[in-house]
Amino acid sequence: MDTTETLLLPPGGSTIAGDVDALFYFIVYASIAIFGIVLFGIVYLGLKYRGRKAAADGTTPGITHSTRLELAWSIIPAILVIIVFVWGFNVYMKMNIIPGDVMEVKVTAQKWFWSFDYPDGVNTVNELVVPLGKPVKLLMSSRDVIHSFYVPAFRIKMDVLPNRYTLTWFEATAIGSYDIMCAEFCGDRHSEMLGRVRVVSEREYKEWLESGTETAEGATPVDYGRALFRTKACHTCHNVDGTSAVGPALNGIVGKQRPLAGGERVTVDENYLRESILEPQSSIAAGYQPVMPTYQGMLNDKQVDALIAYIKSLK
Ligand code: CUA
Repeated sequence: MDTTETLLLPPGGSTIAGDVDALFYFIVYASIAIFGIVLFGIVYLGLKYRGRKAAADGTTPGITHSTRLELAWSIIPAILVIIVFVWGFNVYMKMNIIPGDVMEVKVTAQKWFWSFDYPDGVNTVNELVVPLGKPVKLLMSSRDVIHSFYVPAFRIKMDVLPNRYTLTWFEATAIGSYDIMCAEFCGDRHSEMLGRVRVVSEREYKEWLESGTETAEGATPVDYGRALFRTKACHTCHNVDGTSAVGPALNGIVGKQRPLAGGERVTVDENYLRESILEPQSSIAAGYQPVMPTYQGMLNDKQVDALIAYIKSLK
């Protein structure tokens, strides 16, 4: 376990963090040492030979070379790069060979949020909940452009591409909450494409999984919709206070006429809302960019119903 906060990196929270840090600081300190030696040489030689008289005929004395010096500045850096290569290769293999007994989570990136699908049907947005001390394999893909899944505390970063899966894994070593960032410029709100990894105990994780599937039961559709509005990240693009964001505000729109980008007008009703959630490109509100991702396959009917109920309740 490595939880030491270092000068340049946040406290490590995964099994790989210690290895990455050790190599990283080896390279940093070796670079500083070489920089120091070169700087010393420049200053020392500059002072030593400053203003020295030239030979009588004005020429520089014949200097051929120094075998000892040349061997030293060839062999020492060669040894350093070999150390970094072998060491780096080992850590790289450790990061890329996924252990056998893993829990697999599907990660989907899209402008501008992360969604996580767990094996038993639970799904979350912008929050990855994992048990402590259990290797987690992430199977990742993007619905639009290239993103990059980055958890600084875990020292993992992997590109997330459309039309292809990429893989990474980690094993968390400390209970807590860690930043997820997108490390590939992916548009306007790239910098807001943030999430959290919440590491909990094995028991808490089981409880969370069980309760995760039951949010719908018991809650009223409006309350469930309100929760989904946050957990499915609708709020990252839609305000409910009448102000425009990436998308139109969603309060007080039901029953009203809305001009579309094509020039026609529609009345906002349940079917229009449903279509806008599942096929957002089909009727774009005038004045907005067609950037909303489809929620087809990410929401079941009950969840769509709940979101519509919530939007209808907004005045
Ligand atoms: Cu997604 Cu930057």
